[in-house]
Amino acid sequence: MEIIIQPTAEEASRLAARVVANKIKAKPSATLGLPTGRTPLVLYRELIRLHKEEGLDFSSCSTFNLDEYVGLAPDNKNSYNFYMRDSFFKYVNIDLKNTHCPDGMTDDIVATCQAYEDAIEESGGIDLQVLGIGSEGHIGFNEPTSSLASRTRIKTLTAKTVQDNTAFFGSVDAVPKHVITMGIGTIMQAKEVILLAFGRQKASVVAKTIEGPVTAMVPASVLQHHPHVKFFIDEEAAAELKLKPYYTTVFNNKPKWQQF
Ligand code: F6R
Repeated sequence: MEIIIQPTAEEASRLAARVVANKIKAKPSATLGLPTGRTPLVLYRELIRLHKEEGLDFSSCSTFNLDEYVGLAPDNKNSYNFYMRDSFFKYVNIDLKNTHCPDGMTDDIVATCQAYEDAIEESGGIDLQVLGIGSEGHIGFNEPTSSLASRTRIKTLTAKTVQDNTAFFGSVDAVPKHVITMGIGTIMQAKEVILLAFGRQKASVVAKTIEGPVTAMVPASVLQHHPHVKFFIDEEAAAELKLKPYYTTVFNNKPKWQQF
């Protein structure tokens, strides 16, 4: 695991964008796994800048989003389908035919989830998975006690996640309670993973994820078993890490060939 601590979310996002850009340059047909939420917005902004100013080319990339609310159509402003087009896809030269997000309107959830898994496999698997983290440790919408071997399926949101996302919907009652999410097993199959976490409110869960025991009670802790995972966190989110000075030393002394 590589723990990269930067003074601000802005700086951490810029470094993370470099990892994404390097992946696309090395493999123009890369398959990316993507999150929504507040955390990746600066990363997407930086990728858009790299596209506009440095010609970063998304034309051969494929993407798979982590999750979608059940019952929200792609034209609903709170759907993750909409979020992706509105925050990222419309500003870069990605072919929308190569972008995937679970269908929240499906009337056959089981078949839709299996088809999503099949499509990921057909694309050759996810080369680089980008993640945020929920305040109770979810990745995707794999809430605490999700099976660490789970695949894409329906999940019920915890009261805490509903509360965390209420701001987007105006009231607790308006937040959908069910989602379709890639499973933890699905995420763990990605060849490389980067997780972004910013702000003091994420400090406790970041410390549990990186330095606590691997447990389904903190689903993100399973990343300790992933062979290629990087955490991009700001100072505030790093506040409860016991080995913070060590992570900083490691990062500041990376051999040149390992830098990005
Ligand atoms: C969203 C997702 C979630 C979010 C997490 C953090 O697609 O998969 O795991 O990454 O809920 O959300 P924010 O970034 O809003 O704090």
